Amino acid sequence: MTMTLPTPTGSSSTAIGQVRLAVRGLRKVFADDPRPALEMLHRGATKAEVLHRLNVNVGVAEASFDIRAGEIFVIMGLSGSGKSTIVRLLNRLIEPSEGQIRLDGRDLTALPYGDLVEVLRRDMSMVFQSFALLPNRTALENAAFGLEVAGVKRGERRKAALAALERVGLADYADRYPDELSGGMQQRVGLARALAKNPTIMLMDEAFSALDPLIRCDMQDELLRLQREDARTIVFISHDAEEAMRIADRIAVMEDGRIAQIGTPAEILRAPADGYVRAFFRGVDASRVLRARDLARPPDDGTAGEPARFRYRTDPEGRFRGVLAGDGASVLFGLEPVAAETPIQALLGRVAAAACPLPVVEADGRFLGVISCSALLAALDRGEDAGRGARHG
Ligand SMILES: Nc1ncnc2c1ncn2[C@@H]1O[C@H](COP(=O)(O)OP(=O)(O)O)[C@@H](O)[C@H]1O
Ligand SMILES: [Mg+2]
Repeated sequence: MTMTLPTPTGSSSTAIGQVRLAVRGLRKVFADDPRPALEMLHRGATKAEVLHRLNVNVGVAEASFDIRAGEIFVIMGLSGSGKSTIVRLLNRLIEPSEGQIRLDGRDLTALPYGDLVEVLRRDMSMVFQSFALLPNRTALENAAFGLEVAGVKRGERRKAALAALERVGLADYADRYPDELSGGMQQRVGLARALAKNPTIMLMDEAFSALDPLIRCDMQDELLRLQREDARTIVFISHDAEEAMRIADRIAVMEDGRIAQIGTPAEILRAPADGYVRAFFRGVDASRVLRARDLARPPDDGTAGEPARFRYRTDPEGRFRGVLAGDGASVLFGLEPVAAETPIQALLGRVAAAACPLPVVEADGRFLGVISCSALLAALDRGEDAGRGARHG
């Protein structure tokens, strides 16, 4: 699997994992004079308190986070929690009331508007929920629209738009009009329009939320496939826990204009920060999200006076060699270790049937730890309500 980062023309190059967007102390209140509301927020007031006291709507009460090059960063939360406001602040469709947004170290909030437009035009594309296609233009013309606005010449933008349509599997539909395309195809055109600019950052606000579940799943796969080809930096807004878990490298959960938790899907499933976060992910099937790596723990090395039941042997490089019965005898189980990336779902039977906790190894054979039956059950037990809110699958 090859991964490349699209090169931002003329701007500093960024390596995968490096911070691209750094957001600090970001606040947005919808008021002509934001100061009284900001003052309340500084003293820790909630969105509801500000609304009650000043009749001012708080879009973002406070947000600080980093988004790294090449990751899909999902922002999720209930309707009204401030997700769209954050995205609009990122590309400066709206002005922050307070705080900093740095793109590759440059403070966007301090840039003069002309420079800003230049930076944003080059580096960011936005995909909306409503497909926002122009009805009297073909798929190709729609896909080329962003480039047209950016002043790219006709021949060049048609070429880029066609290539983008090809990438989303719609090359044969280039001359069709939106009303001749299904909802899923229309959203692919929307995606192609964003891709045609070859942006290094894509902002997707509930981009798939209007689609039927199956088509939505296809689009998620499509996005993941595109992401394997070109690791862009993607900020993906969703209110759907399944979707977030499926596509995210990391998730920020928003609650009333603040970030309740940021973490990988596995981190959030295993240790939700509060009841709100827990409730949000309650219906998610943990066995499909968690991987062997997430549950691997150091093997039990025995308690005082009582030897461990099993000993896990590694070579000097830390690679797994085998398992010994803990009494030091020479019984060596012919035990196949589990690859770290294996989904837990594929392991349930093996863990249950194994004579000892299953060893987990990295791709290079390095021993990571073991998965015991009890650790597995603990990870899958999501409390008494687990599963009740489950959606499709
Ligand atoms: N232009 C606006 N004027 C006043 N209030 C707004 C405006 N835009 C958003 N809000 C308020 O900001 C809060 C966050 O909205 P939004 O970011 O759209 O939430 P989400 O996308 O998570 O549903 C909501 O309470 C909303 O009513
Ligand atoms: Mg929204």
